[in-house]
Amino acid sequence: EIKNLEEIFEARIARDEKIEPKDWMPEKYRKTHIRQISQHAHSEIVGMLPEGNWITRAPSLRRKAALLAKVQDEAGHGLYLYSACETLGISREEMYEQLHSGKAKYSSIFNYPSVTWADMGAIGWLVDGAAIINQVPLCNTSFGPYARAMVRVCKEESFHQRQGYEIMLTLCNGTDEQKEMAQDALNRWWWPSLMMFGPTDDESTHTEQSMKWKLKRKTNDELRQQFIDQTVPQADILGLTIPDPDMKFNEETGHYDFGEIDWDEFWQVVKGHGPCNKERMKARVDAWEEGEWVRDAAMAHAEKKAKRKVA
Ligand code: ACO
Repeated sequence: EIKNLEEIFEARIARDEKIEPKDWMPEKYRKTHIRQISQHAHSEIVGMLPEGNWITRAPSLRRKAALLAKVQDEAGHGLYLYSACETLGISREEMYEQLHSGKAKYSSIFNYPSVTWADMGAIGWLVDGAAIINQVPLCNTSFGPYARAMVRVCKEESFHQRQGYEIMLTLCNGTDEQKEMAQDALNRWWWPSLMMFGPTDDESTHTEQSMKWKLKRKTNDELRQQFIDQTVPQADILGLTIPDPDMKFNEETGHYDFGEIDWDEFWQVVKGHGPCNKERMKARVDAWEEGEWVRDAAMAHAEKKAKRKVA
């Protein structure tokens, strides 16, 4: 019977039908979605930290309001994604536990420090730019709740990308010192942004199966190349230099060739040894522990209300 169900499932995927939470799905399809969607949710939540660091130090009220809105959006994205993931039969507590115990991964990019205001520009421009390229294809992913969440997330990401680029543009039109800050931020965020797309296709454990299931619609290398092709001309407009001496437009392929990514650094960061991994995890665990009384109070209040209704 399972064979029959599996055939029906495969046929639905082939027809580009959405799979919904109550539909039959192979156990591995469910598991790999829990893995990717929960990692994605954790990335949004941990991703609030590098920028949260600058809210109190934004250079103007306008910048502060935009940054605050952006960080709030990220919290919202995390919550949609946790909800989408819960429909697959995992509880939010379990996901939090996986994050807090270090069992779950989240994007490598958020383990780098945000040391100057220009980093707010570079993160919006590059990190959110990379996120959009990675997430637009996911609006078409086969699992319904994930695909629908991505539609709204992508719209908000595009505001984030523009606010970052506008910070860069302002700095690049400013004093020499401001332009240098922008270049320095680009130098530090460029390579880690390329790593966001994950290992090369031949090193990627999940790509082949995820492409078959239409969880992924493009491979890690395809998305990385698309990001580079889109971003290099934007750096030209800013008058900034991409920190890669091998970066060169290839007339034959119509794409930019680029230098070797430091994969040792990538795996070190993924395994927990990046510049800020410990700090990021501590911030999340502390927030969870310090929030315990709020959760307890909310539960006590809900129980009291429920009892009152019965009485
Ligand atoms: N940071 C941390 N871990 C990574 C990264 C990264 N940048 N890229 C890949 N990995 C991990 C994978 O999670 C996988 O580990 P696992 O088996 O323990 O889960 C391993 O490296 C091998 O990689 P792949 O086989 O290529 O994994 P996958 O098919 O899941 O592709 C990708 C990785 C592209 C990140 C995919 O999961 C994805 O598209 N996720 C949704 C988008 C997302 O999470 N974005 C987060 C950053 S954007 C933002 O939050 C603003």
